[in-house]
Amino acid sequence: MTQAILQSDPKANYLAHKREIDEAVQQTLDSGWYILGTQVSAFEQEFTDYLGARHCAGVANGTDALNLALRAVGIGAGDYVITVAHTAVATVAAVEMAGAFPLLVDIDPTTFTINPEAIEEAIKAHRDQLRIRAIIPVHLYGHPADMRAICDIARRYDLKVVEDCAQAHGATIKGVKAGTFGDAAAFSFYPTKNLGALGDGGAVVTNDLEVAERVRLLREYGWRVRYVSDVAGFNSRLDELQAAILRVKLKYLDEENAGRREIARTYNERLTSPSLRLPECLGEVEHVYHQYVVRCEDRDRLRDYLREQGVGALIHYPVPVHLQPAYRNRAAVHRGVLQETELAARQVLSLPMHPQLSREQVKRVCEVINGWS
Ligand SMILES: Cc1ncc(COP(=O)(O)O)c(C=O)c1O
Repeated sequence: MTQAILQSDPKANYLAHKREIDEAVQQTLDSGWYILGTQVSAFEQEFTDYLGARHCAGVANGTDALNLALRAVGIGAGDYVITVAHTAVATVAAVEMAGAFPLLVDIDPTTFTINPEAIEEAIKAHRDQLRIRAIIPVHLYGHPADMRAICDIARRYDLKVVEDCAQAHGATIKGVKAGTFGDAAAFSFYPTKNLGALGDGGAVVTNDLEVAERVRLLREYGWRVRYVSDVAGFNSRLDELQAAILRVKLKYLDEENAGRREIARTYNERLTSPSLRLPECLGEVEHVYHQYVVRCEDRDRLRDYLREQGVGALIHYPVPVHLQPAYRNRAAVHRGVLQETELAARQVLSLPMHPQLSREQVKRVCEVINGWS
């Protein structure tokens, strides 16, 4: 029996860098300093340099990064933040963690990212009743949102922009990295991400020194001086072990993103089933294929068939946030329905995609799918 093909494989990624990671971990263990130390500050500097941004503050995870970024740019109780429902629930949860309310709008059906026209429509429709203060574009699956249009709307309506970069480490628009367009950006280093730790981790990136300093305060009880809180803060620290691991993996991010693009090229060339709609790039973007997502009207049957054939495939995401039990009748939804979002949730399927996937495995996935009827 052929071995199952995993949809993502953080262990394979660890094994690919095992010697360097083990060494970095051992050095950190030997150092005797385990939270917010030299590994964290070195990683913050290296990630800042990689992105071409000015400041980076490591935090405990991507959800916290969004929460603290929102707070640091001045979003708080009673404010409304425009974002999408076709995302990880974390995006919306973080808005509420910051004391704000989500106002959910529809996506562009090609890129699966926030539709700028829907943003402007929602602002015009709701600005007399709701205090709309910010936009969170999510660079979903590794395809950057339309940041030119989004930043233009933000300027015209005086809104803050916090980019959700949890799935877009290294993605670019006209050569400029996602995470450097808005007032701040939030990254997740969850193990399956393009840049993944071996545990939880996150970071806020910004070009604004004041925003960075506020995040640094908020991530550790509001301390400027130890044990004295200047502002009421949280515990959201990145630990030294994760930072040391991230420093190793950051060196390989571009190479691994190129590997993901190569896999996507092979899928594009070899997947011939007329029942599938393949992903597309819009504009001068460099996609980093956190996920390779196809659309299929008979998606659930295709997923079951792939499972029987030993091919892992996942649905990102099966239930849009505004239709999930916790958020139904709670999150504000522009126009009440999100047509493209709801259609996407019924059709999307994420095929195996990770840098250690072999060419033979990719070909096998294509053969299996092309043989489906
Ligand atoms: C789009 C998006 N936003 C936010 C998050 C939250 O990140 P974390 O799981 O590190 O809290 C994730 C990852 O799960 C994500 O995919």
